[in-house]
Amino acid sequence: MRVGVLTGGGDCPGLNAVIRAVVRKGVTVHGFEFVGYRDGWKGPLEGLTMPLGVEQCRGILPRGGTILGSSRTNPFKVDGGVERIKDNLAAAGVDALIAIGGEDTLGVATQLADLGVDVVGVPKTIDNDLSGTDFTFGFDTAVNIATDAIDRLHTTAESHHRVLVVEVMGRHAGWIALHAGIAGGASAVLIPEQPFDIDKVCALVEARFQTQYSPIIVVSEGAVPVDGGDMTLVSGEVDAFGHVRLGGIGDRLASEIEHRTGKEARAVVLGHVQRGGTPTAFDRWLATRFGLQAISAVAEGDFGTMMALRGTRIERVPLAEGTAQLKLVSPEEYAEAQVFFG
Ligand code: F6P
Repeated sequence: MRVGVLTGGGDCPGLNAVIRAVVRKGVTVHGFEFVGYRDGWKGPLEGLTMPLGVEQCRGILPRGGTILGSSRTNPFKVDGGVERIKDNLAAAGVDALIAIGGEDTLGVATQLADLGVDVVGVPKTIDNDLSGTDFTFGFDTAVNIATDAIDRLHTTAESHHRVLVVEVMGRHAGWIALHAGIAGGASAVLIPEQPFDIDKVCALVEARFQTQYSPIIVVSEGAVPVDGGDMTLVSGEVDAFGHVRLGGIGDRLASEIEHRTGKEARAVVLGHVQRGGTPTAFDRWLATRFGLQAISAVAEGDFGTMMALRGTRIERVPLAEGTAQLKLVSPEEYAEAQVFFG
């Protein structure tokens, strides 16, 4: 059997660990051959391949990024895209595909599965917002990077009696902000699911200064104020899946806080640092187990499925279930963190 592998969407630490596990078990246990598709769905769409075998996977377990490259290509936005993919898979003798991606990449996989392509999905995203799985790999690494940054910002904020606003990734879901904010002892965590009241944020800032400590405010890039006003700078650029580019909430918030409280406030945008570099041990473990289960699903002909972490078990769920809706922070989970605000 020949199996194609692709990684799509924003990269995240652990992608290479999945590829390695898929290939190692595929070759040694099942005797499969592999085709590496370059740059997400662009690979099968344009027939862009690279050799993929045990040799290419040596030394990649701890490496961030993806040896296959990635893109946000949406074949359903390209005329005849699906037919081109089917033709290219047939021409390369590829019997099945493993797609490693987030909501968009796996959304395409879901539709292709319905159209008769034999595909298995592996969920990845630092945002951890895919339903069907308890965690996606990449998230733990991002949270650790953000927590380390918050720890460092505490000491410099204290020295200068400043407010420090830390902007983290999270377009629709505030998981990174929530986990890193709790782990880092933030004075407030602002997430997309719970619009924030700027007056209340300023009150938390004042309260924190009264205890002789400096406030750290952690904000997701997709957080919005309650009055509906837009504090997020949008470049106007839209990707093939219709997402605008976010960014700027941290700066806006810092200047608003400074203006309203008279306290000096600075913003730090963690940005792509959260996605780069070596994965944590947890992410390597999770990514490896997803890869092992994905190639077993291919061997068993269990297509149209997505790998999912349920408790400590790796299970298979229908792709459609994994991509039907985003997993968001519930009001109860947010309320737990609120105990520490101020
Ligand atoms: O998809 C994950 C994510 O990290 C989002 O939180 C963020 O909005 C997006 O990627 C940004 O990715 P890029 O800069 O590659 O467009």
